Amino acid sequence: MARIVSGTAGELETVHALRHGDIVGLPTETVYGLAAEMRNDDAVRRIFTVKGRPASHPLIAHIARFDQLEELSQDLSETCRLLVSVCWPGPLTVIVRAAPGVSRVCTGGRDTVAVRMPAHEVAQRVITALGTPVVAPSANRFGHVSPTSAQHVDADIGEEIDLILDGGPCDIGVESTIVDCTTSPLQILRHGAITPEDVHRIVESASPAGSGDSRVSLQTTGPSRAPGMMDRHYAPHATLVLHDDVGTVPRDGAPVLRFDDDVVEAARVLYQRLRELDERHIPLAHVVLPPARGLGYALRDRLTKAAAGL
Ligand code: TXA
Ligand code: MG
Repeated sequence: MARIVSGTAGELETVHALRHGDIVGLPTETVYGLAAEMRNDDAVRRIFTVKGRPASHPLIAHIARFDQLEELSQDLSETCRLLVSVCWPGPLTVIVRAAPGVSRVCTGGRDTVAVRMPAHEVAQRVITALGTPVVAPSANRFGHVSPTSAQHVDADIGEEIDLILDGGPCDIGVESTIVDCTTSPLQILRHGAITPEDVHRIVESASPAGSGDSRVSLQTTGPSRAPGMMDRHYAPHATLVLHDDVGTVPRDGAPVLRFDDDVVEAARVLYQRLRELDERHIPLAHVVLPPARGLGYALRDRLTKAAAGL
């Protein structure tokens, strides 16, 4: 079991541990991350080992100041600058061209890097005090359900790490939206709380009036351009049967999870609900999906992946 710490003393201990090359559980507003100091290649390699994640699956750099984006990147587009100025700090990750000094251990050998500025105050204070970016994938074992509390992190990888900083339950509950800013049009590679509608509105506000050019596309088909986002992911052991309408759910005694009502609340509890199925050894559950709009895209995406057969 890892030690779960909190408060100012816990934050100081976390900064100290990161500085000394340890990897620690760190709260963010989306899900808990497994953090390492980005410039410490050995610490970053341990993340891959602990998660059981292939070395080619790149990590997200978490920053606390805008100038850290400039340091990590090159050839930033104006659209990217606009997006981050509106959405940061918050649940948006941008893919940008990596500066030459960025470790290829973090980027999985790519010449692009994923960057986000979390809104969680605890994460901000830790990264600010450390003074350098941290990389942080979700703090779950590869392919498992992401953690939204310190206890989830402990249950999944507590045997492997020494320290988890408890910042309370995550406000949002699903991973950040990933937007590839190296392509034209921009591409949304992963849905999250910054919705496609948000991205369109922000980008459109910078396009010539009436041009109808919102220059955003959703990656809907073909192999994922964000490695690590395979079909079955975020998966509980239970078989999930998806329904678009509660009216089609058979009354067969299996539990029914409804995510079609308040989508904000649905996102917050999503992974907790999936974990509970496993804790209760439920073999099959019916899931009612929210409509495909706003945060509904992220919920449908995670639930479709959780339901996909091996
Ligand atoms: O909300 C979040 O983003 C959470 C919290 C902890 O910040 N982090 C997170 O990290 O979800 P992770 O490692 O579980 O997911 C990162 C995703 C992966 O699918 C990866 O393929 C993609 O980001 N990614 C990272 N760098 C990339 C790059 N250079 N090009 C394309 N995709 C990239
Ligand atoms: Mg993950």
